[in-house]
Amino acid sequence: MASITLSINNKEQAFDIDPNTPLLWVLRDHLKLVGTKFGCGIAQCGACTVHFNGNAVRSCQLPISSAAGSKITTIEGLSENGDHPVQKAWLEHDVPQCGYCQAGQIMTATALLNRNPNPTDSEIENAMNGNICRCGTYTRIKAAIKTASNSQEV
Ligand code: FES
Ligand code: FES
Repeated sequence: MASITLSINNKEQAFDIDPNTPLLWVLRDHLKLVGTKFGCGIAQCGACTVHFNGNAVRSCQLPISSAAGSKITTIEGLSENGDHPVQKAWLEHDVPQCGYCQAGQIMTATALLNRNPNPTDSEIENAMNGNICRCGTYTRIKAAIKTASNSQEV
C-alpha cells in the first residue's frame, strides 16, 4: 500500500492503495467515474481511454503510481454539460450505437484535435486506429471529428 495523490478532472485526491492498481479501477471503483469503460484490459480496444497530461492513454494498463503528479481528465471532466465541441459534433452526427466505446473514442478524438486542430483524413485514421467499435460507427466518428475541427471552438 502507498499513499498516492492524483489530479483527476482538476480535483486533487489522495488514495491509500496498491501502487500497481490500474488507473481504470481507481476511476471506476473508487471514484465511480464509470464513463470510462473496461473493454479488453490489455490495451487493445481503447474503451478505457483518458487524457494523461493532455495525451490519450489506456487507463487499463496505467499503474496508479505512474499517474501521481499528472493531470488526468476523464469523459466526465471534458465539459460541464456535455457541450464540448467534440461532444456536440458527436450528437450532430448521431454517432453512437450501443455507446460502449464512445467515451474512449471522444477522448482520443479530443486529444487529436487539441494537438492538431485541422487533421487530414489519414491523420484522423491514424489517431483513431486503436479505438475499436464493434458497432462499426467509424464513418460517423470521422465525420464528427471533421465537424468539430471546422467548428473553430476546439
Ligand atoms: S480496456 Fe483498456 S484498451 Fe481495452
Ligand atoms: S457504438 Fe457500440 S461499440 Fe462502438
